[in-house]
Amino acid sequence: MALLPILCYPDPKLHRVAKPVAVVDSRIQTLVADMLETMYDAKGIGLAATQIDVHERVIVIDVSEEHDAPLVLINPELVWSSTETHLNEEGCLSVPGIYDGVERFDAVHVRAVDLQGQPRTIEAEELLAVCVQHEMDHLMGKVFVEYLSPLKRNRIKKKMLKAQREDAL
Ligand code: NI
Repeated sequence: MALLPILCYPDPKLHRVAKPVAVVDSRIQTLVADMLETMYDAKGIGLAATQIDVHERVIVIDVSEEHDAPLVLINPELVWSSTETHLNEEGCLSVPGIYDGVERFDAVHVRAVDLQGQPRTIEAEELLAVCVQHEMDHLMGKVFVEYLSPLKRNRIKKKMLKAQREDAL
């Protein structure tokens, strides 16, 4: 297993659209193991392959208190969403230190393939539903700050670039 570097906003590579996984083989199993290790190390609750510069439709999530219930979604597709939505405060490992409100469906059903290559449907609500929608956005090249006003987004962009310059010194 290996820790993988996480792309930071506004890296343009975060806006690439991920391709479906053709076959769940040992390469994908290694990718998932590395993504889980990277997510837990960064104390995140979700990570999309896009964030580690792999542009394939793979997501890992763990919203459990004990960090012992990993969920792997390969080729996830939204099949149902609730009519009710809520504004939830979100953060992102690619936008460290920034938290803001995003409107999301309260509940979603997602069809995906698991690590054994088996199709399954996940019924998600509350935090899991928010996390699934956030990570699926990543696979489409969308970062949560893009839901915010241009003014806020530009402020965040400047802050991130400044932090990255300071890190590079
Ligand atoms: Ni994120």
